[in-house]
Amino acid sequence: MGTAVRQPEVQAPSREPRDYRFPPGFQRNLIWYALRKFRPVNPIVLFQHLAETYGDIAHYKIGRHHIVFLNHPEYIREVLVVQNDNFIKERTVQRSKMLLGEGMITAEGAEHRAQRQTAQPSFHRQRVAEYGSIMVEEACRNRDSWRAGEQRDIAADMMHLTLNVVARTLFATDLRQEVYELAAAINRIMGLYNFLVMLPAAEWLVHLRPPGLAAFVRARNRIDAVVYRMIDGHRRSGLDRGSLLDLMLAASPANDEASRQSLRDQVITIFLAGYETVANALSWTWYLLSQNPDCELRLHDELERVLQSRLPTTEDVPRLRYTEMVLAESLRLYPPAWAMGRYARNDFALGDFFLPARTTVLISQFITHRDPRYFPDPPRFDPDRFSAEGKSRRAKFTYFPFGAGVRQCIGESFAWMEGVLILATLAQKWKLRLVPGHRVEPQPLITLRPKYGMRMQVELR
Ligand code: HEM
Repeated sequence: MGTAVRQPEVQAPSREPRDYRFPPGFQRNLIWYALRKFRPVNPIVLFQHLAETYGDIAHYKIGRHHIVFLNHPEYIREVLVVQNDNFIKERTVQRSKMLLGEGMITAEGAEHRAQRQTAQPSFHRQRVAEYGSIMVEEACRNRDSWRAGEQRDIAADMMHLTLNVVARTLFATDLRQEVYELAAAINRIMGLYNFLVMLPAAEWLVHLRPPGLAAFVRARNRIDAVVYRMIDGHRRSGLDRGSLLDLMLAASPANDEASRQSLRDQVITIFLAGYETVANALSWTWYLLSQNPDCELRLHDELERVLQSRLPTTEDVPRLRYTEMVLAESLRLYPPAWAMGRYARNDFALGDFFLPARTTVLISQFITHRDPRYFPDPPRFDPDRFSAEGKSRRAKFTYFPFGAGVRQCIGESFAWMEGVLILATLAQKWKLRLVPGHRVEPQPLITLRPKYGMRMQVELR
């Protein structure tokens, strides 16, 4: 696995430009337009503008490159599910190979299928249930170390907490102090992310190491060092604990440089995909609860009723219905995976439109989850939207925080289990209040982070 990777082929457009039928959109080329109207470039502002102006589907060009932005459940289903064979991941994802290498998120075709198959047993519902006690144990470490009245950056706390959970559950590794080193290096990279994605030929520049990118390379080396220590330690111990890392090692028995690098790519991908997303979801949830005391009260009532002061366990999760609804509504308003992109391999049709191969298709959870046609009064935090009745009323593909189709998030059950158990464990003892004057602003990087962290005061309930 992981050496000579064959990418699915991408064709050239087969027709003359006039033979395609493009959706409505910008008449001018976006390079010119973006510079004037959308500076500093924030893709969410651009997507909002496209959805408000053109509705379900919009078209624009950057240079010679066609881009369509979708905001309708039928189009979204077409691309992610019905015609998924015709699409690979788009350039931003390709760019993230600089960090992730050829892991499950970035791999295509046979390589992707092989990696997904290897990892699948670790994400099976039953296996995930076994991780519950570690999730609660890690949450308890936070719960017991917080002090009433202190102010903390809850976003940083959630990052450290979920990093430890992924390391212990999936990789049977206790990171402890290394967690801070890892989180700091990843933060460094996130800070450079937008810059790297926009930069022409960034992949090549990374190898040449110009001064501006030296920080990226240093941070990546620090992450690699932690990951290689984990892999080598596991190999040396010779023990098979049945973890995801053991499955990966078994599927890649050679210890040559190419296999080592492939393993590193696979491990780092699960690490990043598995901790940032959940940490952000939790940070946004604490913020939303602090702004909606009625919902917070209902959450506390449920915790008392179901748990009666004992710690939660995996078996409690199905009965913590309101806790799950709070998390679901938070994933609607602040979806950690805020957008997804695909790149067409061949010409394709979408509704009445006919588009050329090499078109980029963009879909944004942040935008569709806030469309008043599907979620009336979108900015209102209302967990009841996710009651059984609320869910049954809503059209499919209007809410998709975990994506859809063959590339749907492999960690979805893991994330629900972890999110509910961490919320329940911490909210049993503490409530969090935003520090007055702290600025809260979503920053769309690889995931949707609170740009200035989340400074909150810890209060006993
Ligand atoms: C709230 C938490 C999470 C959210 C919102 C989320 C969201 C997503 C989304 C939207 C995708 C699909 C991306 C695309 O199709 O372009 C995805 C893929 C993926 N996620 Fe998650 N995720 C979460 C948690 C996790 C966890 C806990 C793990 C692992 C421990 C994980 C591992 C992955 C992997 C490996 C993929 C790639 C799957 C593939 O391409 O086959 N995610 N995630």
